[in-house]
Amino acid sequence: MANSNLTEAQRAKNDEFYTQYHDIEKEISAYLEFNPDVFRGKTLLLPCDDPEWSNFTKYFAQNFDRFGLKKLISTSYAVDSKTYKSGYQPSLFETSAPYFDQVKTVKNGKIFSLTHDKTGDRKVDVDDLEWHYLNGDGDFRSAEIKKLRDEADIIITNPPFSLFRDFLAWIFEAEKQFLIIGNMNAISYKEVFSLIKENKLWLGATGNGSDMVFAVPAGSDVAEGDKQKAARLGYVGDYTRLGNSCWFTNLDHGRRHKPLPLMTMADNLKYSKHKEIKGKQSYDSYDNYDAIEVPFTDSIPSDYEGVMGVPISFLDKYSPEQFEIVGRCENEDLYQLKTKVYTSSECKQAYLDKFGKKGTYDMNSNGVLLIDGLLEKVYQRVLIKHRKATK
Ligand SMILES: C[S@@+](CC[C@H](N)C(=O)[O-])C[C@H]1O[C@@H](n2cnc3c(N)ncnc32)[C@H](O)[C@@H]1O
Repeated sequence: MANSNLTEAQRAKNDEFYTQYHDIEKEISAYLEFNPDVFRGKTLLLPCDDPEWSNFTKYFAQNFDRFGLKKLISTSYAVDSKTYKSGYQPSLFETSAPYFDQVKTVKNGKIFSLTHDKTGDRKVDVDDLEWHYLNGDGDFRSAEIKKLRDEADIIITNPPFSLFRDFLAWIFEAEKQFLIIGNMNAISYKEVFSLIKENKLWLGATGNGSDMVFAVPAGSDVAEGDKQKAARLGYVGDYTRLGNSCWFTNLDHGRRHKPLPLMTMADNLKYSKHKEIKGKQSYDSYDNYDAIEVPFTDSIPSDYEGVMGVPISFLDKYSPEQFEIVGRCENEDLYQLKTKVYTSSECKQAYLDKFGKKGTYDMNSNGVLLIDGLLEKVYQRVLIKHRKATK
């Protein structure tokens, strides 16, 4: 019970991470560089936001004219509906509005919208935002927010981590363009991976594989290590860092059309900078897949025509013109790529051989290598093929 409460508390906390202006700016620049008109004439929805404080709202409102936006809508989730409870104070901005409401400030979500120059200063920016209380609490699954989703062309946010799967399904249900922050581990969700494989979803342009820093509610309990890492990146105070966050999108950007420069298999075996490859006779082949093991993305041989198992971080370098994703090493064999399923006695024997005692070495969800007579699982692997292998 204590443990499940702890997990619940942790999950609630993980839903309250606020994105840095710089991270948004960096990511959005990549889409604009690829297509300067990506936002022109578009209605943009920023759900699961806290518009008064949000850097998403601030960034898009400040760039409304430059991007040629038609409409910006940003919605928040009611304070009382949030699982994470922290001392809430309505902002001066809200309390000074003539329609400020003591009850609605905690029970209802809010909607901020921007379409035109309200102040008459001949520019559309953050000062022209108009707001009112939503009828409901702003839950993205509510009919009220679904209506806004359907009106929007593009949806951008950092959704609550605990509802990432539901949020993605909610976007795909309406077939919208999107850019959202999530955890790299989401790649291993069946439904997310199949979207990646079909090129309906890919990783964003920046931040992948490096630490992203998020603001947390004032006074939040942040692990000392994360606090220190955030501080090293220049963020001191109510900040944390997450090493495995990344952007997921279906907006195109230039990085995904840049082919990876690669060496042939013979050159890798001769010159690779990785000791695991240099000097070997050949790449290892899996015992349970008709594929070779490629432990580093930069060691993918340019001239190998068959299937290759590569680390998940490959997706950060993936160009759909250069490679086809054929599946991944997983328990269910969704893509019919397994050549062998280990029996439970084989898993027990492999454990005994490896550790010298009784146990089960569950090998069916991984690629497996036979090394010095022992079966060894490798880390999570994506299975890929060259579109056209080159010498
Ligand atoms: C990870 S935070 C990100 C906030 C903001 N988008 C940003 O990046 O700075 C997610 C936000 O979604 C809110 N939220 C949680 N559950 C929600 C739901 N069912 N519908 C809408 N928002 C929700 C959380 O309270 C939190 O404010």
